Amino acid sequence: MAKAIHILGVGNIGLLFAHRLAESHGADMVNLLFHRHSLIREWDEADRKIELVSNGIPNAQKGYGFQLLGHPNDHDINPINNLIIATKATNTIAAVRAVRRHLTSQSTVLLCQNGMGITDELEVLFRDVAPEYIPKFMVAIVSHGVFSTSPFRAVHAGNGMVIMGSIGIAPQTDSTSPTVSLSELLCHTPALAAVRVSTLQLVQAQLEKLVVNAIINPLTVLFNCRNGQLFSNSQQADLMHLLLEEICEVLKALPEAQRIPRKEETFSVSRMKEVVMGVADRTGRNTSSMLQDIRSKRTTEIDYINGYVVRKGAELGINCGINERVVGVVKAARLVDMEEILKLFPELSRDLD
Ligand SMILES: NC(=O)c1ccc[n+]([C@@H]2O[C@H](COP(=O)([O-])OP(=O)(O)OC[C@H]3O[C@@H](n4cnc5c(N)ncnc54)[C@H](OP(=O)(O)O)[C@@H]3O)[C@@H](O)[C@H]2O)c1
Repeated sequence: MAKAIHILGVGNIGLLFAHRLAESHGADMVNLLFHRHSLIREWDEADRKIELVSNGIPNAQKGYGFQLLGHPNDHDINPINNLIIATKATNTIAAVRAVRRHLTSQSTVLLCQNGMGITDELEVLFRDVAPEYIPKFMVAIVSHGVFSTSPFRAVHAGNGMVIMGSIGIAPQTDSTSPTVSLSELLCHTPALAAVRVSTLQLVQAQLEKLVVNAIINPLTVLFNCRNGQLFSNSQQADLMHLLLEEICEVLKALPEAQRIPRKEETFSVSRMKEVVMGVADRTGRNTSSMLQDIRSKRTTEIDYINGYVVRKGAELGINCGINERVVGVVKAARLVDMEEILKLFPELSRDLD
């Protein structure tokens, strides 16, 4: 069963999966796919080890397979049975494109991105492909917190869980793949705390996570603050309310949300407000990934978070003007002050507390 799992995207989440799988099942199960040549040098400099620090204790795992994608010999990779894609949402379609010729209908691809909308892009990518050539896709909602200190070294800073479920790009067929099921293996990797759920439960979890991300991420950018500093003034609370009114209306109208039990109550503004504030409180000391991206001048995932809400709102005829303006501010990729926020959102009270 050597090299049974391929991992594409060796950033924070890719390293977490690679290290935790190696710890539980042996590093020779795991094959790292490198998307750029310089990763080979970085891998050699790291002594071909992945080091993960957990509770202050470093642990290094060695013995991984690795291959460079796009290399003349990359036909050696064929076929990929189990693939974890751990890129940012903005790079996921490029990543799938790069490995597509190594995938078959027997392959399982687990997507680990925050945000939504990748399924729509995959449907376009595989539109003219016969179902028997389309891999099975799964989505993972990851609530672990990980950051990297240098290439192939990461800190597992917050224990969370991995919620996985299938998504329907192609009709799901029973796997006759010779490799062990990817989700089964992940569920037997204790440090990942992974569970497999039904597609309906996955959709509900995805939508709830989307709401949390669509509030905490952009608001920490607008107000340039840590998660725990949000909602301390009336402008922040008002903006959350205005965003939630649009987001909840869109989510409740989505075709995939229609089978969610008690969807009106589940996606009510008041319930979602409690969920968001609970997460902001629990992650109070964190700097959101979106604020980190803006500060480091990296592309954010806003198109897959509030941008997704705006696109779905347009399709459903629901006005998402506040979310649209928030997307605009984040895409301008600069920090704004309160005076500018009040000009951009005249709906907010000018009384500063
Ligand atoms: N970090 C967390 O704690 C956390 C928690 C929950 C969810 N998430 C979500 O998980 C996803 C991954 O986050 P992350 O923190 O792991 O990001 P990250 O550290 O930036 O890792 C992404 C990796 O993907 C690589 N990449 C870029 N383009 C690629 C391509 N075309 N093919 C293959 N690899 C490519 C990047 O390499 P380069 O160095 O070349 O850019 C980088 O190593 C995001 O959607 C994030 O929101 C993260």
